[in-house]
Amino acid sequence: MSTPLILDCDPGHDDALAIMLAAAHPAVDLKAITTVAGNQTLDKTTLNARRVCTLAGITDVPVAAGCDRPLSGVLEIAADVHGESGLDGPVFGPPTVPLAEEHAVDLMHRVLVEGSEPTTIVAVGPLTNVATLLRRHPEDVSRIRELVVMGGSTSRGNHTPYAEFNIYVDPEAAAEVLASGLPITFHGLNVTHQALVTPDVVARFRGMGTQLGEVCAELMTFFASTYRRLWDFPAPPLHDPVAVAYVIDRSVVDCVRAPVRIEVEGAHTRGATVVDLHGRMGWAPNADVGLTLHRDRFWELMTGAVEHLGRA
Ligand code: BDR
Ligand code: CA
Repeated sequence: MSTPLILDCDPGHDDALAIMLAAAHPAVDLKAITTVAGNQTLDKTTLNARRVCTLAGITDVPVAAGCDRPLSGVLEIAADVHGESGLDGPVFGPPTVPLAEEHAVDLMHRVLVEGSEPTTIVAVGPLTNVATLLRRHPEDVSRIRELVVMGGSTSRGNHTPYAEFNIYVDPEAAAEVLASGLPITFHGLNVTHQALVTPDVVARFRGMGTQLGEVCAELMTFFASTYRRLWDFPAPPLHDPVAVAYVIDRSVVDCVRAPVRIEVEGAHTRGATVVDLHGRMGWAPNADVGLTLHRDRFWELMTGAVEHLGRA
């Protein structure tokens, strides 16, 4: 039995590999790839999703463009992390995978309505599309098995000292989604920073001897340069595939149930996820929160996906 899944993303280097993992693994039935403004503007994240699908031979999954700005305020992008294209590093040819005519939110709704069982949503960009879906179709909550998010942190942030990028870009969307009653899991920086793309992983991609493996190596080499420059990391963290891997195999990440609140007002902390791991606030737990990554299993899944797609 494979899990029907919608991947909502803003490619993005790590989003690109999340797309590959979701498309390749038989435990997942990837129904749609939806894009949102985040790492770059919507036109660029959407072009990048189509570029990745074209290169990886993912031709049977609709790609639709969604919201081009957060629910309120002005879009902030992460060109300093992902480059001007949003996917700097390798040279991509023009995409042949088409863009769906539907808006991403309409595609999400249709997939949910047409599904014979509830569908999982994995969201690895700002939560604007998901919040918009729930505003327009609150009844869709019952059609969503669970929402697995790459976002937030139990400790510090990255875009600002206390806010992780995906939540920072649209905290109102994150707060609305959290209040919807959906079963939610957050895989934040505290867990995704355990997925460092060390040189041996890059060597594994390159050693596959496929065009896809080479492009993944080039993407990760660019990503490594920005993480070294901006945060002095020894290797870049592969955030987004952690959320997909968790859907494929629960044992990849150990989670706890905890109360989570989104800071939407803080003068210096807007977009922070306040995770009360020790029950200090007396709040009811409302989410699962990833804590520990089982690295070997994660990398087995991730490199296996690139190997599989590269040879197809
Ligand atoms: C998240 O922000 C983006 O830069 C990445 O694609 C990831 O989804 C990490 O904070
Ligand atoms: Ca992302």
